[in-house]
Amino acid sequence: MNPFDLTNKHIAVTGASSGLGHYFAGLLAANGAKVTLGARRVEKLKEKVSEIRAAGGAATALRLDVRDSDSIEAFIGAAADAQGPIDVLINNAGVEAGSKTYTMIDEDDWDFVMDTNLKGAWVASKAYTKHVASSNAAGGNIVMVSSISDRRANRGQFPYAISKGAMTRMTEVMALEAARYRIRVNALAPGYIVTDMNRAVLESQQFESFRMGIPMRRYGELEDLVGPLLLLASDASRYMTGSVLTVDGGHVCASL
Ligand SMILES: NC(=O)c1ccc[n+]([C@@H]2O[C@H](COP(=O)([O-])OP(=O)(O)OC[C@H]3O[C@@H](n4cnc5c(N)ncnc54)[C@H](OP(=O)(O)O)[C@@H]3O)[C@@H](O)[C@H]2O)c1
Repeated sequence: MNPFDLTNKHIAVTGASSGLGHYFAGLLAANGAKVTLGARRVEKLKEKVSEIRAAGGAATALRLDVRDSDSIEAFIGAAADAQGPIDVLINNAGVEAGSKTYTMIDEDDWDFVMDTNLKGAWVASKAYTKHVASSNAAGGNIVMVSSISDRRANRGQFPYAISKGAMTRMTEVMALEAARYRIRVNALAPGYIVTDMNRAVLESQQFESFRMGIPMRRYGELEDLVGPLLLLASDASRYMTGSVLTVDGGHVCASL
């Protein structure tokens, strides 16, 4: 028996139109899962779904706005209608407000980040829990995509870092409360992962000393998240709940 096997598990991924979520959807499908991809840019999702299907996998694309509770409810319902009860929910959708300090952001910036990263993950988890409870499933599994910004922050990460700090506490409290539904709740906390969106900035000369501050002297690649994501999404983590798994090349250890 391979505890990491995802064959026939239905996994819903929020924010799957780019970056980590886009990569996770393909990875999970390649490991046997049926995946439902949610985000606002449906065309991007459809492209990924075609790619997954062409490789022999099962995938569905659904429009989702995690700032809209009705959209989240519809997403969970339509995902289950399309591919059966959802075994795993990955709360990955996330945004930043740009490099602004607390004196620079306005209330719209605050709401944009907190509603997407924090409230969206809570409302989606609530809708998912209702789904698990009503579908007579043996249990469920929620994976939050947090960040090392939950513990350490740079200037200009307001309120992104606050949303991730709260996400860690949400993971812990939710784990306590979700156990009665046999739902596990854990978080993946990546360090700086190079994606198409941030490559130019992270690899610029200006960021060289920042990179050298990472004990492993390099940023993370999407492939560095394979093992940790498969662990949290599969039964290999069946006795884990309330954990935050840091994947950062030692970045948060480097405080001096
Ligand atoms: N890249 C890193 O270094 C890094 C490190 C640590 C943690 N993370 C976390 O990883 C997650 C993904 O980040 P990323 O780097 O992959 O960024 P990204 O490429 O910008 O992807 C963000 C995703 O979130 C979706 N999204 C944003 N607002 C949404 C909404 N209202 N409803 C539904 N989906 C929404 C976007 O889709 P649409 O725009 O199509 O809706 C997109 O698919 C975030 O939670 C982030 O905090 C990233």
